Order: sequence, then C-alpha cells, then structure tokens
Amino acid sequence: MSDNQATLTADGQTVDMPVRSGTIGPDVVDIRKLYAQTGLFTYDPGFTSTASCDSAITYIDGDEGVLLHRGYPIGQLAEQSSFMEVCYLLLNGELPSAAELTKFSTTISRHTMVHEQLSSFFSGFRRDAHPMAIMCGVVGALSAFYHDSTDIADAEQRRISAHRLIAKMPTIAAMAFKYSVGQPFVYPRNDLSYAGNFLRMTFGVPAEEYEVVPAVEKAMDRIFILHADHEQNASTSTVRLAGSSGANPFACVAAGIACLWGPAHVGANEAALNMLKEIGTPDKIPEYIARAKDKNDPFRLMGFGHRVYKNYDPRATVMQKTVREVFDALNVNDPLFETALELEHIALNDPYFVDKKLFPNVDFYSGIILSAIGFPTTMFTVLFALARTVGWVAQWNEMISDPGQKIGRPRQLYTGPAERDYIPVSNR
Ligand code: ACO
Repeated sequence: MSDNQATLTADGQTVDMPVRSGTIGPDVVDIRKLYAQTGLFTYDPGFTSTASCDSAITYIDGDEGVLLHRGYPIGQLAEQSSFMEVCYLLLNGELPSAAELTKFSTTISRHTMVHEQLSSFFSGFRRDAHPMAIMCGVVGALSAFYHDSTDIADAEQRRISAHRLIAKMPTIAAMAFKYSVGQPFVYPRNDLSYAGNFLRMTFGVPAEEYEVVPAVEKAMDRIFILHADHEQNASTSTVRLAGSSGANPFACVAAGIACLWGPAHVGANEAALNMLKEIGTPDKIPEYIARAKDKNDPFRLMGFGHRVYKNYDPRATVMQKTVREVFDALNVNDPLFETALELEHIALNDPYFVDKKLFPNVDFYSGIILSAIGFPTTMFTVLFALARTVGWVAQWNEMISDPGQKIGRPRQLYTGPAERDYIPVSNR
C-alpha cells in the first residue's frame, strides 16, 4: 500500500486502488472498480473489514474506547448536554444556540401525540406480546398515517418525518408498556421534558398526578444520550440498507427495530440482567466464568464483548456511575449491582477475557438501572430503540442526501450446485 493507493495482485493481474482518508480513523481501500477491472469480489461476511459508507456523524475508536458524536466525546455529552441537544447535534451537525435548542425542543414536543386511530392497533396484539413485537408493527404502521412526509426526495419532508419519529417514539413505547399491563394510555404533556414526559406516560395513571423525580429524569435523559447513535452498527446498517431502495423512513426505522431486537445486539441488556439474576450471588461467579470460557458450552457473559470496542465501552463507564445516582435518588440497593461489579472485576483479571479484549459493554449495567426505575426487562430493548431513533434517522437522512447514494446490494460467494437439468418428479 502506498500513500494514496493499494495494489492487489491476483490471477496474474495487478490493479491499483485508491486509498481514501477520513478525518480520523483507518484509511479505506476504495474497491468499487475491483469487479469491473478483475472479475473478483471481496469476501467479508459480517463486514469486519468493510466500510459501507462515508459518514460525518459518529466516530468510534474501539481500541482506545472512544466514541464521538460530531466530534464531541460521549462522556462530555452525557455529563453536560441533554438528549434534545444531542438529537439536534446528530441531525444538524453542530450544537444548537439557546434559541435553536428551544425551537427544536418545542417542535419535538408539539409532535408527541400519535394519530388517535393508531391506538386501536394495540388491541390487535395479545396482552402478553413482547413490546418489541408491538414496536415493529406500530412504528411500521406510521407510514400509513403520515403520507405527507414520506416523499424522501423532499428535504423538508425528510426533516418533518425525522421530527415525527423522534417525538412519537416515547409515546408509542409508553403505549406498548401500558397495553402489556392493562392500564389506560396516558397522553403526552408538552410542558415536561422529553424524558420526564416519557416517564409520566409510562408510569403515570389517570387516577392521580405523577411526579417526575428529577434524578430519575436526568438518568433517563442520560441513558437516551448514551444510546443515541453508534456509527454503522447492525440496526443502523439495516436502516440504511432498507432506505437505500427508497423506502420511507417509518418503514426503515421499523426494520431497524427488528434488527435491534436480536440478543447479539441490544437484546443483550435484557439477557445481561437475566444472567445476573441467574448468577444471583458473587460466590456463583466462578462457575459462570468457567462456563463462558468453555468452548463446548454456548453460554457467553452477556453484556461483555463488542465487535468494535476492544477496550472499556465508554458508555458503560457512564452507565456504571448512573446506577449509583439512581439508587441514591430512589433509595434502593439492588444486590445484583454488587454481583455485576464483582463479575466485572473477576472477568477483567482473567487471562481469557484479557487476551480476547472482552470488556463490559453498554448493556452490562443498563439493565440494573432500568430495573431500579421500574421497567420490566421486556422494555429494555424498547428504550434502546426509542433513543436510537435519532441515530437511525440522522444516518438515513445523511444517506439520502448523498448524491452518490446507490441501492445497497452485496454480492456472494456461491457454494450451491452448478447448473443442472430439471428432472420431472416421476423420474426422481
Ligand atoms: N463471553 C465469552 N466469550 C466471548 C464473549 C462473551 N461475552 N464475547 C466474545 N467471546 C469470545 C468468543 O467465544 C470468541 O472466542 P474464540 O476466538 O476463541 O472463538 C472471541 O471472544 C471473539 O468473539 P466473536 O463472537 O467472534 O466476536 P464478535 O465481534 O463477532 O462478537 C459480540 C461481538 C456479538 C458482541 C460478542 O462479544 C457477544 O456475543 N457478546 C455477548 C452479547 C452482548 O453483550 N451483546 C451486546 C453488544 S453491544 C450492543 O449491541 C449495544
């Protein structure tokens, strides 16, 4: 590889391919002409060495444990900013002025109600339906209600649909929860903050006024910030791929929600808490560590390891601190937190986890906080989807705005039968 090009020699042919540099991070070899020039494809299942797009939104250095949104470190945003401000930053590229932030927050709060007819969708689901199943269906159905913002070629319609998705997601998430517990839906209140409104819609009842606990509201807002975007992860790539065909943003975000649900992705926060409950007390930890290391046992430490972070996930650091704040505010002390801390300590000193660079990820502590706030485990992934919606729509909008955008269409290494003649069933 030279300064600005890489050379590939295969089958006696030599091709030069441009090497492109971003602002920071690894350079990329631009292989777009490789097939035309050589007849070869590249092979990279799981995209471990493949950059799928240009993006100016989020940067991760997995080796150093760095996460930047539009250049700002996640730790600074989590400590000093607000979710509304981070949404504005992700969507627009710069931090808002005070006036811009007020205008943006007001716009979002004015879009929080859903079409009244959407409420009847919920009664079509079983009461015991997983709220993520409900989210996939109801968010996808939004495209049937908001036709006036589905022309993706119109930047203004894209902006409106982005605002609608960010604004309505807490309402839909709270409705999914209310439906599962048999309580009436609570309408949004626009004088509350984004997080405060969500907490009230989730835990409030019409029979009495709900008081938002400021420390919990702050923790909720911070959890939303920590989950707002994460570069080209599986669900974001799903949203981009779905959107590359020109599908509307509501349908694309529903596709993202479906992907997010998997236990290797965000379903891990639910799995991590279930694992901690199963472990129970610190004395059982060695048994589970041994299982995680056993190649013949499919068990993995949930909330540990990450495709990109080969260091402590910077979001897990903030999350761990937030556990204590929520416990203090609610005067609770879940012994599972001690189990989690001890598990982390033991794992981080075990050569298996050290050598494989397996550290706690964002999901390791989030379940403990969400559980203390009162969310059932089935809602954990829903909260992640709620917060990630801004990342999905920012990435989707970036893709659609790119004049060079093409439909996503990977190729394959075919391993099936070569061409053969059909045999009539009577001769088989
Ligand atoms: N416990 C035990 N061993 C693990 C774990 C774990 N949690 N994670 C990875 N390993 C081991 C694998 O067995 C493998 O070992 P080997 O090289 O001897 O075969 C090695 O570490 C590499 O693991 P891969 O699965 O190849 O790594 P990959 O980058 O594909 O996977 C993933 C990343 C899916 C997150 C994985 O670490 C995992 O399954 N973790 C548990 C689930 C989890 O917490 N997911 C949340 C991710 S964060 C998010 O989505 C927000």
